[in-house]
Amino acid sequence: MPDNVGRYAHITGWGAHVPARTVTNEDLSQVLPTSDAWIRERTGIQERRIAEEGEYTSTMAIQAGRAALKVANLDPSALDLVICATSTPDYLMPNTASLIQDGLGAARAAAFDLNTACSGFVYAVSVAAGLIKGGLYDRVLVIGAESMSRVMNWSDRSTCVLFGDGAGAVVLEASDRPGGVLASKLGSDGSGGDLLKVGLGTRLPITEGAVARGETAMTMNGQQVFRFATRIMNEATREVVEQAGLQLSDIDLIVPHQANTRILAVAAKQLGIPEGRVFSNLQRFGNTSAASIPLALVDALAEGRVRAGDHLVFVGFGGGLTWGACLVEWSYGPSRQWSPGQRALRWTRDRLAQVKRSLHRLDRRLAVAGRRRGKGAGEPWDGLGPGEG
Ligand code: COA
Repeated sequence: MPDNVGRYAHITGWGAHVPARTVTNEDLSQVLPTSDAWIRERTGIQERRIAEEGEYTSTMAIQAGRAALKVANLDPSALDLVICATSTPDYLMPNTASLIQDGLGAARAAAFDLNTACSGFVYAVSVAAGLIKGGLYDRVLVIGAESMSRVMNWSDRSTCVLFGDGAGAVVLEASDRPGGVLASKLGSDGSGGDLLKVGLGTRLPITEGAVARGETAMTMNGQQVFRFATRIMNEATREVVEQAGLQLSDIDLIVPHQANTRILAVAAKQLGIPEGRVFSNLQRFGNTSAASIPLALVDALAEGRVRAGDHLVFVGFGGGLTWGACLVEWSYGPSRQWSPGQRALRWTRDRLAQVKRSLHRLDRRLAVAGRRRGKGAGEPWDGLGPGEG
């Protein structure tokens, strides 16, 4: 058993990636019975990014992951684990995290997806921190990535104006220096599963009728979700602060799930925290589900809103219903300084990982092609097919 005493999980790298295509409220009002004024007033959203053809959850996640590794000055082969928080995976199988692991060239890393919708990033950070503190892993890449535009019913104005696409990532590393992820509190209430739902899955056959009725796209009870979100953001934040042995007044910045400015305003009021200490960038990106907290974190860092030693709360809520909050003592300034030599070494190792990945992929293709041409004979299981054993 490893000696776990005095192990901490610090966030050492961060990065984001959003599609280039911006869709404004005005654009939506050209194709839907909606208006810029309605969307701004009810949600605070002004525009969102929408993935273009050839852009997927995994491809955005790989870009965000690369950016985070660069900040941490870590090459992909140093990673032990990749967790992708997403409710819009590329496929049901293989899992998106494995596509990311391959895309980054993180040859040593295990990989799995985690789906708790908009709470996904907080869940994934909590799991990663637990695995690090427990001594199982030293370096974990956590990515929240979503292609929400692909599961929208684009004729339902009450949902499709709210969501957007993107990816954000953090690197967590083990250290004996106190700090990092200090506490986390996760929760679920599956009785509210129908309030926010994307029916794609094995339970609902994907028939033309189901698609036409919008059953395979997102459906939402907006008012019920609004009530849940404000209540749970308040409760989860209070609980995680208490668990860390701190006071709400010790919190320098709350980085919440970016759903709606009215939700954030109500929650700030209930918490007795000035709205200025609740970070928001949903004006530009809308609700990007599991990607929203890391996208907000990266923006908060870029705006100089986070300093070393600050206490941050990440708080998420969404489909499931699920919710979660993490309290993080921030370890670094807004940018990390590396010497040119350190950067060059990482760059070289990163390229090496890419080359190894390409060779590995080529090897696999050749093996598949070889078997197709009947060159795979002699494998141990040959002759053990049905009726041959
Ligand atoms: N443009 C114009 N009108 C719209 C509209 C749109 N995009 N979407 C809905 N409306 C209309 C409704 O049809 C309704 O019209 P009616 O009164 O003629 O029936 C009217 O606006 C009010 O609808 P309502 O649903 O009561 O609005 P609301 O004030 O509750 O705001 C939400 C709707 C979705 C913005 C709000 O409920 C919300 O933000 N909920 C939380 C959603 C969320 O964050 N989900 C993700 C959580 S992770």
